Amino acid sequence: MNTPNPTLFSQLPLGTLTLPNRIVMAPLTRCRADAGNVPGPLAPLYYAQRASAGLIISEATQISQAGQGYPATPGIHSDAQEAGWRAVTSAVHAAGGRMFLQLWHVGRVSHQEFQPGGELPVAPSAIAAAGQSMTRFGAQDHPVPRALEAAEMPSLVEDYAAAARRALAAGFDGVEVHAANGYLLDQFLRDASNHRGDAYGGSIANRMRLLDEVISAVTAVAGADRVGVRISPENTFNDIDDSDPQALFQAVATMLRGRVAYLHVVEGEDRKATGSPRVDYGSLRTAFGGTYLACCNYTPERAAAAVAAGDADLVAFGRAYIGNPDLVTRLQLGIPLVRSEAKTWYGGKHAGYTDYPLASTLSA
Ligand SMILES: Cc1cc2nc3c(=O)[nH]c(=O)nc-3n(C[C@H](O)[C@H](O)[C@H](O)COP(=O)(O)O)c2cc1C
Repeated sequence: MNTPNPTLFSQLPLGTLTLPNRIVMAPLTRCRADAGNVPGPLAPLYYAQRASAGLIISEATQISQAGQGYPATPGIHSDAQEAGWRAVTSAVHAAGGRMFLQLWHVGRVSHQEFQPGGELPVAPSAIAAAGQSMTRFGAQDHPVPRALEAAEMPSLVEDYAAAARRALAAGFDGVEVHAANGYLLDQFLRDASNHRGDAYGGSIANRMRLLDEVISAVTAVAGADRVGVRISPENTFNDIDDSDPQALFQAVATMLRGRVAYLHVVEGEDRKATGSPRVDYGSLRTAFGGTYLACCNYTPERAAAAVAAGDADLVAFGRAYIGNPDLVTRLQLGIPLVRSEAKTWYGGKHAGYTDYPLASTLSA
C-alpha cells in the first residue's frame, strides 16, 4: 500500500514489518569474519551504526562451505556462525533496525582452497569464470569447476533451506536469496555459463528451475513475507553473460510474482557508470508486481525521483553506506556524503569499517 506521493522518508509495509523509510543498506561484503567464518567482533557495532536504514541487507553469507569463494566471508551453516549472527541481529534490533541475511553460494567463483576436501568448486557446467580468487598463496585463476549432477540438486536446495532456518533462528527478519552478480544461481540462469542438457539447462524455464526450487524451499521455511530475491540482469561481473537478458529476467520476474516479499534489482553494471540500459526495468517491475527495490549508481536525487515517480518502492545504497552510517539523516538534512576509502573495503579491522563518524558528531 503506497502513500500517494511517497518520498525517501515515507514508511512502507514489507510483510509483517513496517519500514520507516525507503532507504536500504545494500549487501556489502567486508571480509572481516573470524576463524570458522564467524561474523567478527566488530560486526554488531558496524551494522548497529547503520540501523536507521529502512532495511539492512547483510553482506553475502555462504550457505555451506562449498559456497565460499573469498577470504574471511561469514557463513550461516554452523552453530558458531549462527551465534555470531545473533549478536549482530540483537545489536541492530536494540538500535531500532530491521535486517535480512543475504544467502550466498558462489558456485564457480571460487578455488579449491575454500572447498571442502580441497575439491573443485561446483557450477552448472564445467566452464571456468575468467578472473581470480584471493587465496593464501596470492591470486589464483578460478579453476574449471565440476558440473553439478542433477541428483545433487535436492541437497543443494536443502542447504539453502537449512541456512534460512538458521538465519531466522539467529534473529534475522528475513532472508534475501542472492541470484545476482555471477554467483551460483545467476550461473544457472544465464546461457553463457549454463550449457546443461538436462532439466536445469537449455530453455529459460529449465535455467530458472534451480532458483524456482530454492524459492519454494526457502519460502516454505521463512514464509513469502520474509524472503527477497536479488537479480542483476545486465551485470557482467564475474564473467557472466546472457544472449537475451530481457527475456530471461522478464521470465524470472514473472516466476517470482506473488511468491516473495520483494524483488531487488541491480540496474546496470555493478559499480560502473551505466550507459544505455539493455533491459527495460519498468517491464520487469510490472511482471513482478510486488515491492521493487532498485540499486546501482543511485544518487540521492535520482533515488528520490524514482520513489516519487513510483519507478521504485525502495532504493538500496551500497558504497554510500560504507562511509555514511547515518545515511538517512544525511539525506534528510542535505548533509554532504563522505566517500569511503576503497582500500579498506575488504579485510582489516575497525579502520574504514566502524570508524566513519555520524554527521551529528562532526564539528559545525
Ligand atoms: C565493497 C562492496 C561489497 C559488495 N558486496 C556485495 C555482496 O556481498 N552482495 C551483493 O549482492 N552485492 C555486493 N556488492 C554490490 C552492492 O550491493 C551494490 O549493488 C553496488 O555497490 C552498487 O550500488 P552503489 O552504486 O549504491 O554502490 C558490493 C559492493 C561493494 C562496493
